[in-house]
Amino acid sequence: MSTTSAPPSVPSAPSADALRARKGHSKLVCITAYDVAFARLCDRAGVDLILVGDSLGMVVQGHANTLPVTMDDMVYHTRAVRRGTTRAHLCADLPFMSYQSSQDDAVANAGRLIKDGGAESVKLEGGVEMAETVRRLVSIGIPVMGHVGMTPQSVHRFGGFKVQGRQTDAAQHILEGARAIAEAGAYSMVLEGVPSSLAEEITRSVQVPTIGIGAGAACDGQILVLNDLLGLDPDWKPKFARRFATLGIEAIGALAQYASEVRDGRFPSLEESFK
Ligand code: KIV
Repeated sequence: MSTTSAPPSVPSAPSADALRARKGHSKLVCITAYDVAFARLCDRAGVDLILVGDSLGMVVQGHANTLPVTMDDMVYHTRAVRRGTTRAHLCADLPFMSYQSSQDDAVANAGRLIKDGGAESVKLEGGVEMAETVRRLVSIGIPVMGHVGMTPQSVHRFGGFKVQGRQTDAAQHILEGARAIAEAGAYSMVLEGVPSSLAEEITRSVQVPTIGIGAGAACDGQILVLNDLLGLDPDWKPKFARRFATLGIEAIGALAQYASEVRDGRFPSLEESFK
């Protein structure tokens, strides 16, 4: 385990318990971020929770899925986001194979995200099979967010990023998983890529907030990948996401303008130069 000290934590951020207590009162607004610049913007906008998602493997590193993401990657990005987060709760993902093989691995790696990264909670994927791991982490004081449904770390089992829980037995399995991790002490859970009716049933069945992504409007909160929300990729938008801006197109325009002004000598001007 690294001995580098974590960036300072933020006493005013809502605790996991405070977020759990919001169920039935007000929707949780959650977003992913991967670096300090965007973390500052998300924090200023007043989101409740910033997740350093292992989606960074896809949207930052350019992989086809989240499986190659390492613990070192997660600690690096969590530390950067920590420096830009002053009021939101900061949660970080446990990446693929950092918690599945043993509870001791889960404890050591969740500990790194908290101690070295500065996260206030961790997220892991899985249902019934992960309930005892959730219980162990919670028992030693590490708040855990669960994640069920279309769990991206199981992409090879699903044969792609496909909606899960459309068949009755699959829906029942996801519901049981959600109940198990809630009962084990998770303070909230992501429901990803499931029919809205199943998300509604899970939301009614568990005592902790459900946070939907591709799970309809009945969840207790929503989360989106920041790049999708801001429209950073002009060529791709998942069906469940909404672009609240088209920053990718704007960035291309700004960069093309910069290129043209450098080429024809309009940039830099005298005011932008030193005497
Ligand atoms: O990795 C991630 O960004 C996530 C969210 C999409 C929930 O798990």
